[in-house]
Amino acid sequence: MPDRCIQAHQANSNPLYMDIGSQENDPLKEVLDGMRQNRRFLPSKLFYDKVGSALFDEITTLDEYYLSRVEHSVLQNYLPQIAAVLPDNLVLIEYGSGSSLKTEILLQGLHSLQAYVPIDISREHLIAVSEDIRMRYPNLNVLPVCADYSSHIKLDLQHVDSSQMAVFFPGSTIGNFEKKDAVNFLTHIRGMIGSGGYLMIGVDLKKDLDILLPAYNDARGVTAAFNLNIMRHINNRFSGNFDLSAYSHKAIYNDSKGRIEMYLISAQDQVVTISGFSFAVKKGEGIRTEYSHKYSIPEFGELANCGGFEVRQVWTDDDNLFSFQLLVAR
Ligand code: TRP
Repeated sequence: MPDRCIQAHQANSNPLYMDIGSQENDPLKEVLDGMRQNRRFLPSKLFYDKVGSALFDEITTLDEYYLSRVEHSVLQNYLPQIAAVLPDNLVLIEYGSGSSLKTEILLQGLHSLQAYVPIDISREHLIAVSEDIRMRYPNLNVLPVCADYSSHIKLDLQHVDSSQMAVFFPGSTIGNFEKKDAVNFLTHIRGMIGSGGYLMIGVDLKKDLDILLPAYNDARGVTAAFNLNIMRHINNRFSGNFDLSAYSHKAIYNDSKGRIEMYLISAQDQVVTISGFSFAVKKGEGIRTEYSHKYSIPEFGELANCGGFEVRQVWTDDDNLFSFQLLVAR
């Protein structure tokens, strides 16, 4: 049985979820390191505490934030085609199970899954999503893994054939990596699934700034609240004292790098203390919180090649806002 290995692993550990890789990264150290740079940044994974995850869910419903809406409709429209290219008996591995709506489309459209393996950094969220899926798909083998996917994850899936492994990485989260990190990430996935394995990935496309900029700076200020929440989270978690009223959200498009850059701009000279370490922040200084790279289809094809993948097929919406791509590991 190809799935013996996963089941054995599940039996030996907590049946609800498996916790791995979380010791590798020390988030406080990452915060302090980021604050010690000339061009300061905060680690974007700290957006996603409970409040942040709820705010992001709200972002995905905004008119301006076309990404979620368009990816959803591309997936929905082309699901029969996507399913037709994939083999039966797949192990579906989802990186960042924050997108249960899209998962739902896949679970409905891909028949005879061998297992569903959601991977997420937030344990609460992961458990909630997994319980829900177990209830609604009682015959599906759900094997949640709690891990930070910015560090390398090792799954016990050696006994599953590469051609039966498919990673689902929606939401253009690949765009949040710097290019060399994106290549490393793809290389890591390739190593995990092996030659012949699949990667189904959502990739946001280059487009007019009239459409792009509002997606990261909505009229109701939900994105601003989401961006600022990273400081509130750091305050709570690492005894910080960022003054949220003294920073404002800013999103710009860096044309030469092909990416949205998100900052929190300091309204005044101020000193912030985090876990006993103090940092002087100048008036007008921007602390970077996120990049969101935008690709043309050929550009992403090149990136995929560098990461050891071949692009098998690309689906887009009629306006070419967003692409959903099926890659195969070389
Ligand atoms: N993956 C999302 C994106 O790049 C993340 C995101 C959306 C985001 N809006 C944001 C990150 C606002 C920081 C701030 O589109």
